[in-house]
Amino acid sequence: MTELLAYCRSGYEKDTASELTALTAEQGVYGYPVLSANSGYVSFMLHQAKDLHTLAASIPVAGTVFPRQLVAVTESLTNVDKQDRISPVLSVLREVVAQTGQAGNVVVEHADTDDGKQLAKFCRKFVVPLRQALRGAGILSKKDDNNKPVLHVFFTEFDACKIGYSLPAARSPWPMGICRLKFPADAPSRSTLKLEEAIVSMLSAEEREQVLRAGGRAVDLGACPGGWTYQLVQREMYVEAVDNGLVDDSLMRTGLVGHAAADGFTYQPEYGRVDLLVCDMIEQPDRVAKLMGDWLVKGLADHAIFNLKLPMKKRYETVTQALTLLKQRMAEAKIKFSLQARHLYHDRDEITVTVIRQE
Ligand SMILES: C[S@@+](CC[C@H](N)C(=O)[O-])C[C@H]1O[C@@H](n2cnc3c(N)ncnc32)[C@H](O)[C@@H]1O
Repeated sequence: MTELLAYCRSGYEKDTASELTALTAEQGVYGYPVLSANSGYVSFMLHQAKDLHTLAASIPVAGTVFPRQLVAVTESLTNVDKQDRISPVLSVLREVVAQTGQAGNVVVEHADTDDGKQLAKFCRKFVVPLRQALRGAGILSKKDDNNKPVLHVFFTEFDACKIGYSLPAARSPWPMGICRLKFPADAPSRSTLKLEEAIVSMLSAEEREQVLRAGGRAVDLGACPGGWTYQLVQREMYVEAVDNGLVDDSLMRTGLVGHAAADGFTYQPEYGRVDLLVCDMIEQPDRVAKLMGDWLVKGLADHAIFNLKLPMKKRYETVTQALTLLKQRMAEAKIKFSLQARHLYHDRDEITVTVIRQE
């Protein structure tokens, strides 16, 4: 049976399954999710194999919340002979390429879980002879080419794997869909990585230039101790850091930060408006989404990047509700914008949303 395979954070399999069910139904494709708790992936089994390519092309990972990567799986192998894993894998990959055309890369992956990590060393080694064999057979381009399909071999056990492909416009460019970042030693909190990942992985190069201009102004709601403010200061923006707590001294010394010990729900920007509003307050997601909508619709901020803290249950439904209302308000105000919502690698029980004005 063919399946759409989604990698996700361990513990988010149900949310990923709910999202896949909704997204595939939107495409007029039907099937059912198969998942096991804390496995780090979900298989969405398709009733009709012919739908697989449609899904591979029409659901970009960037347009989803919980999947880190999406792979169109054409075949799953079990009880693979440990003495010769290459031959059966190669034979399936030949069939994949017969449908997609020559591939630009091959990746051998595993789930991002403690069990999955047992397979990491093996996966790293296995890809080397596999790549050679694929190049030898003309299935893979001589040099890595990101504009071609990528072949995926996803090991769930040492002798079991799912084999498929992802397409250039739809896949996540990061290995296993994970954007790893180095913690900047002088940043005041690890939270800084959430905003950095959003900037690096959710904004295009043009958007980064437009939204994070040196000399531009930002408001950071729930700023302390200053990890998000740090990212903006690194980009030479002026920041109004709003929080009753203390902002890191070294940030205050830059001369780019003003601290307001105030409530983020009533704060007004010092000069009437800012280019960018960021918000990491721990609050109800619908309350935060409404606040973001107020700022954007009233023109207090052009763009917004914010976190929505997730409840324990019905997380996909909660996110959908909060964001649907926000999108409706923006549309009624005739504001052209692009909105992305992603469960980032550096997020915990929260997601990150970017709303970028398009004109
Ligand atoms: C997760 S921390 C923010 C971490 C910060 N983004 C960083 O990178 O260092 C949440 C912060 O929101 C603040 N906060 C919560 N509710 C708030 C409110 N209504 N107004 C202002 N700040 C609030 C808390 O004081 C806390 O410092």
